[in-house]
Amino acid sequence: MILLTSDTETKPTHAMRQAIASAEVGDEQKGEDPTVNQLLERVADLLGKEDAIFFACGTICNFVSIKTHTRPADVVLAEEMAHIIRAESGGAAMTSGVLMEPISSERGIFTVNDLERSLERVATAPYLYSATPRLLCVEQTHNFGGGSVWRLDELREVCEFSRQQGLVTHMDGARLLNAVVASQTTAKDFAACADSVWIDFTKGLGAPIGAVLAGTKEFISEARRYKHVFGGAMRQAGIVAAGCLYALDHHVERLQEDHDNATYLARRLSEIEGITVKDTKPETNIIFFDVSRLGLDKVMFLNLLQEHGVKMGAVGNSIRAVTHLDVSRTDIDFAVDAIAKVAKSSVGSKDLENVVPFKENSAIASTNTVRNYHFCPNCGHKNLPNHNFCIKCGTQLNELTNTKQTDKY
Ligand SMILES: Cc1ncc(COP(=O)(O)O)c(C=O)c1O
Repeated sequence: MILLTSDTETKPTHAMRQAIASAEVGDEQKGEDPTVNQLLERVADLLGKEDAIFFACGTICNFVSIKTHTRPADVVLAEEMAHIIRAESGGAAMTSGVLMEPISSERGIFTVNDLERSLERVATAPYLYSATPRLLCVEQTHNFGGGSVWRLDELREVCEFSRQQGLVTHMDGARLLNAVVASQTTAKDFAACADSVWIDFTKGLGAPIGAVLAGTKEFISEARRYKHVFGGAMRQAGIVAAGCLYALDHHVERLQEDHDNATYLARRLSEIEGITVKDTKPETNIIFFDVSRLGLDKVMFLNLLQEHGVKMGAVGNSIRAVTHLDVSRTDIDFAVDAIAKVAKSSVGSKDLENVVPFKENSAIASTNTVRNYHFCPNCGHKNLPNHNFCIKCGTQLNELTNTKQTDKY
């Protein structure tokens, strides 16, 4: 099976496993694991920050950072399709009691004007009635924006403005090193724009576990306390930190291969009738495309594709494919052939009248259209067409019903 669902699908290579097996270890919780400490020094230096802290994954880096930077009832501003808002189970609300204010943008990269508009919304009511904006989050690269890269000048401008407004800035750098490779900008330059920043080792870097958060000594000291509170402190974590160190040494420059493969995939897919590729020149390793012109719902498409030996995922109404260490150019060719076969057997075979049209640059469907809904087989709830689970009871939704409805939302 060719796995293009996510760059988290990578398995540790033989050489990485050897590095893991021979790691020197100690008690991470007490700061005594030599391999973790070596990794922290490396990443703090890479990002130009005073100190760093090791976590099992990126989600907890975001939670701990938000907790450290804010107080309950504060406002956290983030792009409307940011991972922090859309894909972390609402955890920041639970762990920090914060209010999320979305910033509208194209492909995840917003401007000072976009940020200003959101800040104005936050301050709609007079002082005392409105919540306090405290933190701005930026995502580099932007996952649901299609792996889009913040240029350094764009990032500097927004972060500088944010600072002038009295906000602290946090960078979700799950794929920061993809941005570094794609833009030939140093990680230090990008990281200098933010007060806190983390990188993930389980995405394109191909390690099984690990993320490192960096910032000032004071910030990291406070973050360490919350890491403990959240149960994130570890013991002989050098076992996994060794995989991260290996990745830093061997898997950074090669990210360019993933980017080249994504560009190749996007170009080849755009040649297939019925497939609409959102961005035929992806900046990094993520591409989105639409299959509605094939007369197929995304779930049907993904199931058919899987029967041909290729797995991809869906975000909103779009199909997402992510290239990584474990997919070669030959695998990409195989995936393109599989999609061409699915497309060939599907074009014209469905009632196209029922299909929700593809909307550029939006994972959220347009308003006032004729749509198909997912009616939950368990509780009957009418779910929006881009849901693959029932938002009321959580049941997996596999088939789009044929019921036609016109609705505004
Ligand atoms: C932009 C972004 N932020 C955060 C995360 C969460 O990282 P993790 O899976 O390591 O918890 C992801 C995961 O895909 C991501 O894409």
